[in-house]
Amino acid sequence: MSENNDTINNQEEEYEKICYICRRPESKAGKMIAMPGNVYVCQDCLQKTFDTINNSGMNYDDMMKMSGMPNMGMFGNMNYQDIDIPENQKIKKKKKVKKPEEKLDLRNIPAPHEIKHMLDEYVVGQDYAKKVMSVAVYNHYKRVAAGDQADVEIEKSNMLMIGPTGSGKTYLVKTLARLLQVPLAIADATSLTEAGYIGDDIESVVSKLLAAADNDVERAEHGIIFIDEIDKIAKKKETRSRDVSGESVQQGMLKLLEGSDVEVPVGATSKNAMVPQVTVSTKNILFICGGAFPELDEIIKERLNQQSSIGFAADLKDKYDEDPNLLQQVTLEDLRNFGMIPEFLGRLPIIFSLENLTKDMLVKIMKEPRNAILKQYEKLLELDEVKLEFADDALEAIAQKAMEKKTGARALRSILEDYMLDIMYEIPKDNNIGTVVITGDYIKKTGAPVIQMRGMEIPALTQQNG
Ligand SMILES: Nc1ncnc2c1ncn2[C@@H]1O[C@H](COP(=O)(O)OP(=O)(O)OP(=O)(O)O)[C@@H](O)[C@H]1O
Ligand SMILES: [Mg+2]
Repeated sequence: MSENNDTINNQEEEYEKICYICRRPESKAGKMIAMPGNVYVCQDCLQKTFDTINNSGMNYDDMMKMSGMPNMGMFGNMNYQDIDIPENQKIKKKKKVKKPEEKLDLRNIPAPHEIKHMLDEYVVGQDYAKKVMSVAVYNHYKRVAAGDQADVEIEKSNMLMIGPTGSGKTYLVKTLARLLQVPLAIADATSLTEAGYIGDDIESVVSKLLAAADNDVERAEHGIIFIDEIDKIAKKKETRSRDVSGESVQQGMLKLLEGSDVEVPVGATSKNAMVPQVTVSTKNILFICGGAFPELDEIIKERLNQQSSIGFAADLKDKYDEDPNLLQQVTLEDLRNFGMIPEFLGRLPIIFSLENLTKDMLVKIMKEPRNAILKQYEKLLELDEVKLEFADDALEAIAQKAMEKKTGARALRSILEDYMLDIMYEIPKDNNIGTVVITGDYIKKTGAPVIQMRGMEIPALTQQNG
């Protein structure tokens, strides 16, 4: 008898419950109501049934006969075989992969130089940014670990990160959170609005973090929230209407940044009566805001030009026009002029900028990081036992093309993808191909890649694209 029960239990765990009426599985229809005899009915169907009964004035027993339900009035003598869901209609439950428990050990936070070292493996260049972030994160978690014991209250080290598009802002934060094994929520400032308006409430960023921490409040409270596109919530210059997505959002964020207890919905981004809520304290959550701040360089330039146009120090007006890293000279005043309110900036004590990516950096990005794009392609072809090589001038040509697109490192992938398509298509056709060398000429469309057959050293030109 007990063996029998076990097998039933096992089946229940492995297979999804299916609604007896509409035949939808539990994963689609929601929680099932169990009836005697292994029959399940979804809440929708049950509700519909009751509604129909109530509205029709019909007799309950008649109703059951009509909907094809087994006679519920006589649970006692039900025939189990009749009502079982047929074997071929059963749906196997998706296996839940249990993630290994990963957690930052607050007493053993890696030292700043170790954090930077780890970042170096993934992020090319941006040395200054990596250094600032490593120190800030280290201090932040030290502060968290010290908790209330510290007699001097250490302030939060929220950060504001400024950098051109595609220079690695989001990538840096993602890498950092992964290396530290803390939950990370990435929110977009453009989708946020003041509470009560269309768009996500500001607190939704915290519920995202809670979701990233698998609803573990304690873990979420040590997490990182990255708010991207922060420049898009600058104060609008001239508006008559209420600025619900700009200045108001900055104001709404003040409390979060500083640390407060917020009620957040669990498993949803907006509050309503149907979702449970928990209180999350943002006191120990690290906020990193990032944005490209277009036209901030104009503001900086204007200030620098003003400074240098008086007296002996007077400079040529276009002195700063060619400076690629103007953003690094940003001051609070510039950001205020851009439209960030002083209270907001005051809560982001660490302000730093990223460099513009140079051609050399782009080449390095292609080949050096742990998961560099070239390594990925090499691996793909290696599975076909083909060796893929890139000539130096090819990489340079690709980097040059990427520079022209002005979208930072993002352009690299799409450019490479373009050239690799033909290679990926042609190579598997011929089993004898041993090595493919992507040449600069192929990238410049003046030649073909060099293809070597297995065991032979004569290059044969087979590609005819151009
Ligand atoms: N310094 C870098 N080192 C290695 N890879 C980089 C670097 N910068 C960018 N990348 C690559 O480029 C991609 C895009 O970068 P990322 O998403 O961080 O840009 P972003 O600075 O956030 O730009 P945006 O302002 O448009 O959001 C990353 O996924 C990463 O693969
Ligand atoms: Mg980004």
